[in-house]
Amino acid sequence: MGIAIYPGSFDPVTLGHLDIIERAAKVFDKLIVCVMHNSNKAPMFSPEERCTQIEVCTAHLNNVSVQMHGGLLAAYAEQQQADTIIKGLRAVSDFEYEFQMALANRKLNPKVETVFLTTSAEFMYLSSSVVKDIAAHGGDISGFVPECIKKDVVNRMNGRTG
Ligand code: COA
Repeated sequence: MGIAIYPGSFDPVTLGHLDIIERAAKVFDKLIVCVMHNSNKAPMFSPEERCTQIEVCTAHLNNVSVQMHGGLLAAYAEQQQADTIIKGLRAVSDFEYEFQMALANRKLNPKVETVFLTTSAEFMYLSSSVVKDIAAHGGDISGFVPECIKKDVVNRMNGRTG
């Protein structure tokens, strides 16, 4: 099925993201998970840190690579010769925003199609902000983020690095 890009801010990557990555990796020959900039957000982790976190928790997937890009998604897709942009849909409330982004990206790069994967039911409520909020209040984020990055998130919320 060619090359697909799964873009996001991934601040941090969650089990919901990992679910989409694992399922997309079965469908496409090559999946590039791309850490990108969302101009509406001030991330907690640097792009490099987010890439490392995703690399660690996708190490078992041979056709998945992780990159970062600070520019437009449509231009990045062209540069990577990707056919498809993958986005996860959690609820109807995601639809309007995702629809707008998909149309804008297609206008900018008519060669790329956006394909939506519906999230698995157990991750419907999940977002990176929910994870940060739970960790900030001392809650247990097991079951929300991959085990290998749990310590990173807890430490950062407690003002520690590494
Ligand atoms: N499981 C769990 N959480 C999920 C999820 C899933 N399957 N899918 C989405 N989410 C969460 C994300 O963690 C995020 O949570 P947050 O708001 O608390 O950070 C939220 O849902 C929204 O996700 P998404 O819509 O994918 O936003 P994003 O910030 O992760 O990614 C970019 C947006 C980076 C892809 C977009 O801003 C972009 O393309 N930027 C590049 C510049 C560009 O081209 N702009 C023009 C676009 S038309």
